[in-house]
Amino acid sequence: MANSFQKTLVILKPDSIHRGIVGEILDRFEQKGIKIVGAKMIKMTDLLLDKHYAQHKGKHFLPRLKKFMKSLPVVLVVLEGLDVVRVVRNMCGPTDGKNAPPGTIRGDYGMSISANIIHSSEDLKAAKREIGIFFNKNEIFSYLRPDIHFYYDDGEI
Ligand code: CMP
Repeated sequence: MANSFQKTLVILKPDSIHRGIVGEILDRFEQKGIKIVGAKMIKMTDLLLDKHYAQHKGKHFLPRLKKFMKSLPVVLVVLEGLDVVRVVRNMCGPTDGKNAPPGTIRGDYGMSISANIIHSSEDLKAAKREIGIFFNKNEIFSYLRPDIHFYYDDGEI
């Protein structure tokens, strides 16, 4: 849905943790006017990955992807903002870092399709499903960020 406040899920993948760029990446979202409303670090399990990557079942890259996603902890973050699903997808850039334009997270930080730094939900339906896999309702917060009106057009918040 356009012009509505939404929530989306990002996963800072093991390569982000290993390279120490988690803070830099989250900083981009905060500076864009997007609110962090949930965050946790976990070690992925097969159960969680099978749920999260259900649409990739049977794909050739899935076993390698799962091994990679279990190699170190990941940081799960729920982001909130206007049209945030699409905005965050655009900020992440195309899946393959080699094809991602400069200015996007994958374009600025990576050259890989599998170690591609960050996951973001594809659409609103996926966002709701994915947030539900990793977060309980009481782990998602509602709070006022006093600067937030500077980022949005009048009347949108
Ligand atoms: P992500 O946004 O987590 O969604 C699915 C992931 O599968 C994707 O990022 C990539 O890390 C991975 N992926 C997609 N296509 C390929 C591919 N052809 N080879 C390896 N990994 C892939």
